[in-house]
Amino acid sequence: MTATASTPSSSRLSIDYRNATAAGVGDEHGLTDAALDSVADLVQRSHDRIMREHEAGEQRWIDLPDDTALADEIDAFAAEAQERYRDYILIGIGGSSLGAIATIQALTHPYRNLLPDARRDGPRFFVLDNPDPEKVRATLELVDLPNTLINVVTKSGQTAETMANFLVARAALTDAVGPEQAARQIVATTDPSEGLLRQLADREGYRSFPVPPGVDGRQTVLSAVGMLPAALCGVDIHALLSGAAAMRARCQSAEVRRNPAYLLATLSVLADRRLDKRILVMMPYADALYGLADWFRQLWAESLGKRLSTTGEEVFAGQTPIKALGAIDQHSQIQLYTEGPNDKLIVLLGVERYRAEVPVGTPPAEIPDLAYLQGAKLGQLIDRERAATAWALTQARRPNLTITTPAIDAFALGEFFYMLQLQTVMAGALYNVNPFGQPGVEAGKNATYALMGRKRYEELKRELTAAPPDGAESVLSSA
Ligand code: PA5
Repeated sequence: MTATASTPSSSRLSIDYRNATAAGVGDEHGLTDAALDSVADLVQRSHDRIMREHEAGEQRWIDLPDDTALADEIDAFAAEAQERYRDYILIGIGGSSLGAIATIQALTHPYRNLLPDARRDGPRFFVLDNPDPEKVRATLELVDLPNTLINVVTKSGQTAETMANFLVARAALTDAVGPEQAARQIVATTDPSEGLLRQLADREGYRSFPVPPGVDGRQTVLSAVGMLPAALCGVDIHALLSGAAAMRARCQSAEVRRNPAYLLATLSVLADRRLDKRILVMMPYADALYGLADWFRQLWAESLGKRLSTTGEEVFAGQTPIKALGAIDQHSQIQLYTEGPNDKLIVLLGVERYRAEVPVGTPPAEIPDLAYLQGAKLGQLIDRERAATAWALTQARRPNLTITTPAIDAFALGEFFYMLQLQTVMAGALYNVNPFGQPGVEAGKNATYALMGRKRYEELKRELTAAPPDGAESVLSSA
């Protein structure tokens, strides 16, 4: 599927950050023009460095929107698979599943799996990310295994959760259809040349798609990692790439106020560093965008939560990302956000035109206090709730900003993905940390391998199981 004539040609997201400024919420909690200007040189230098690194073959995530040949190949595979399979299981965790979940949640029917086969574009979609035995068992019992495609996704090719879930699913599939047919029903998305899954895929002859080398897992949403699941579920992946490319074109300027990604990075990091807003909330006013907030939560946390600066000093950087959902969390979180600690920058996501227009209907005349809903539409109500929340937060001097999309479509989602990734890379520069790599995650992965008895992790296991100091519990005491 190629982007159609109706695909927009330029970026359409807009950002209103007046409520995050000193003029909006006062000097103590809002940023001044002078504060924004004070980082202009650093942003310029960081922009130049990012561009130089890109030219030198690094920062390869920047190029992903250009790989339309891969998108064509994925579309061709997906078209056949949509005909052939009733069910589709994605097995992956973190960066290897969150982008696909965000995309499919944003762009497909909210009850997609419950639709009759004829009304659904592609197979039912299931995710095995957590190695939770109850969910894994339930999923494998639910799907129609002879008509199920299994897509195992892991960049490293060895993550314990993913490989364990995959071995469970592979065994179930083999029991159902035999080993040769099982191999035909498995697709591996992994490094083109390295890793245990690569070895297994080559040995058993799985169809495979590449995780691009030189790109961290959390930046792979616009590669086969995110695009294959999306295409299988009927998403226009070319429009997704076009949206990302349009945002990239809009983000060429090094000037903070002219580059939406740099503006968001600067507002967030300065809010943290200068105004003590240690928490960044992303609150979409659309169920469909909740997965985007979840995807961003991982991106922001894993990229910026770093102990060391780029020059090796301990800095313990990072701003805690939280996801909330409007209007539901107005009845859960907003009390805390408006009256609790003033330690947050709150990013609201608004939608100009929802895909469904639902009139509220006529309230009964006997209940005059409901007359205010006469002639109203649900999209209007939820959007006014967003505006009301922005107002209430501002009244309480809680900095907030709103990113508005004209609609929730593949193009807009591509814009969000690109913008939020560049925002994160620039935030790394402003915190002076390397936004790539995730040593804290790797430490936990290695400890898991050791505790599970993986070869070559014996020394770490000895360390983990050594006699604890007096009064402390051994890490294995509950195992
Ligand atoms: O962003 C990252 O690199 C991580 O969150 C990984 O995506 C996650 O740990 C899964 O790793 P892998 O794809 O190697 O299985």
